[in-house]
Amino acid sequence: MTNTEQGARRVQDTPPAGDPVLSLRGISKHFGAVSALSDIDLDVRAGEVVALVGDNGAGKSTLVKILSGVHQPSSGTIRFQGETVTLDDPSAALSLGIATVFQDLALCENLDVVANIFLGKELNPLQMDEVSMETRSWTLLNELSARIPSVRVAVASLSGGQRQTVAIARSLLLNPKLILLDEPTAALGVAQTAEVLDLIERVRDRGLAVVMISHNMEDVRAVADRVVVLRLGRNNGEFTPDASNEELVSAITGASNNSVSRRAGRRQAQAASPHPEAGL
Ligand SMILES: Nc1ncnc2c1ncn2[C@@H]1O[C@H](COP(=O)(O)OP(=O)(O)OP(=O)(O)O)[C@@H](O)[C@H]1O
Ligand SMILES: [Mg+2]
Repeated sequence: MTNTEQGARRVQDTPPAGDPVLSLRGISKHFGAVSALSDIDLDVRAGEVVALVGDNGAGKSTLVKILSGVHQPSSGTIRFQGETVTLDDPSAALSLGIATVFQDLALCENLDVVANIFLGKELNPLQMDEVSMETRSWTLLNELSARIPSVRVAVASLSGGQRQTVAIARSLLLNPKLILLDEPTAALGVAQTAEVLDLIERVRDRGLAVVMISHNMEDVRAVADRVVVLRLGRNNGEFTPDASNEELVSAITGASNNSVSRRAGRRQAQAASPHPEAGL
């Protein structure tokens, strides 16, 4: 958005300009004696997909729940669009521009696509007639090039991929800046997975910041710009999507990956530097 100095050089593989939309520092979360997250740092920029990976119990969902206002962190800071924020409840996160598609999608089977897209978003019910809701639904779905036969069919009659599409369209209704997707392809077949991954790319191309949780390294490599690994509730490395399966699996399971971690650390330091030309 801002004009940079004319002489500024563009570095091809640097994520789109500027400061992170979301910046977490030192986030910890305890559930009684259980330490689910310890000292987590995470940056996500506009127009990038960050894959959050890690084994069962690594803390991924806990982090998403903190970002969607379901849980409060025990310590640490959340900066969103340059401001330090507290996300006291899900509506606080939503109104700031953080939308979440939870794994179970939370769609109502018996309602049609339009009703599902607007479900729970009755911000100003009197102004929402059926025609404008339907038009808005089509607009959202068309922007995503979504293949939904009709917005007047019940969600129960849609495929898994189409349901995921409806859930993503729904999350875009309030024009969020950041969208969190918890296992968006977990229950999908090959073709539907490809469709949802395309959709994620289109969401990114609209300039949104995307955090995607996945256990599937192929899916991660297909769409992620960066891969952030959590292990036992801690950061355990950051990778580009061309990282090998071995590298990723080592970080996820805890085998040594020192050179990779150091490289990620240098990249992070460069990104955080106000004078990137000072870096290597
Ligand atoms: N509400 C809770 N109360 C107590 N402990 C919790 C709670 N939620 C999560 N935990 C614990 O926090 C840790 C991280 O859990 P979390 O669900 O975030 O993992 P995850 O990375 O999402 O795993 P998965 O891949 O299996 O979904 C686990 O040890 C879990 O048992
Ligand atoms: Mg989880």
